[in-house]
Amino acid sequence: MIYFDNAATTLQKPKEVIDAVIEAMTSVGNAGRGNTNASMAANHIIFDARENLAHFFNVEDSSNIAFTLNSTEALNTAIKGSLKKGDHIITTELEHNSVLRPIYEMVERGVELSITKSDLLGNISYDEMESLIKENTKAIICTHASNLTGNLIDIARVGEICKRHNLLFIVDVSQTAGVFPIDVKKMGIDILCFTGHKSLFGPQGTGGIYVRDGITITPLKSGGTGILTYDQIQPEKMPTHLEAGTLNGHGIAGLNAGIKFINRVGLDEIRKKEEELMCRFYTKVKELPQVKIYGDFSTRERCPIVTLNIGDFDSDDVAEELLSHGVSTRAGGHCAPLMHKALGTTEQGAVRFSFSYFNTIQEVDEVVEILKKLILASLS
Ligand code: ALA
Repeated sequence: MIYFDNAATTLQKPKEVIDAVIEAMTSVGNAGRGNTNASMAANHIIFDARENLAHFFNVEDSSNIAFTLNSTEALNTAIKGSLKKGDHIITTELEHNSVLRPIYEMVERGVELSITKSDLLGNISYDEMESLIKENTKAIICTHASNLTGNLIDIARVGEICKRHNLLFIVDVSQTAGVFPIDVKKMGIDILCFTGHKSLFGPQGTGGIYVRDGITITPLKSGGTGILTYDQIQPEKMPTHLEAGTLNGHGIAGLNAGIKFINRVGLDEIRKKEEELMCRFYTKVKELPQVKIYGDFSTRERCPIVTLNIGDFDSDDVAEELLSHGVSTRAGGHCAPLMHKALGTTEQGAVRFSFSYFNTIQEVDEVVEILKKLILASLS
């Protein structure tokens, strides 16, 4: 099988990630819940992972990072925990449902919403975004990259807008963590939501949220924390504030190994390889008849994603055909309804090819040949 669905989850993980999960599953206890060696081992792994993530995102104090199940949980926590009736917020048409649906829920609860539009290439206007700011605007919530087109949003630029207008800046880095450097200080990010199972090479069920000092979030969950047992309320101190219940110590051990792998190989090296795969694929498929590619390829500063359609063929049918030739992609709506609407692909969907460090040039060339044959067969 050739796996080009890495924007959904990376399938090939570094060996050290798998080893770390196995090691943790056979040795660690419940973090913060006892004095046994096994519990201490869990504490150590979780502390180390928090420190490595803090370093990775340029977070000064690692206790400002809480672990979550994924970006969706982090985004729900950020959005529902920081907004109230009467607040106005701004987001974009590039967003995934993990941003949009919690926002729509808050709209039901009296939050006002403005959405920055996308142009036909999948880019937003920063001037338009700024022009949407009103007196009661509380936050800008946006993704770092579209999971459909791979286009980036200039997060540092949005961060400056937020700073100028004293707004909270909540960023979803699901598609970019492990692809592009993310620096919460330089980019002016107040709340960062990330997932572990994509380009950070961790297991599914891992992710986290960084909350800048001075921001109060109402937790999504409350429960056991291993500390302050006799208090009726969830402890206020981070990270415990946002970490009720047993942490996914086994998964976090794998995520920690994923971060260490990226640090060892080098983020630039990883991105260079992914960019090479994407550019090769793009250059070859854009010449093929009937192929329509979505997104902005005038820059290499984009996620390693190429999304396309072939003529009027339904994207699910094309993906099925590719699968019958051993190629995994993702078709349909990609949980990105507004992006599809903006690109005019609501009915047809689109076929997304997304690359990872572990893919090869040979795989790219093979898939291009398969696509050529499919297109030829459809024309005859
Ligand atoms: N958000 C993931 C994707 O884009 C699942 O496919």
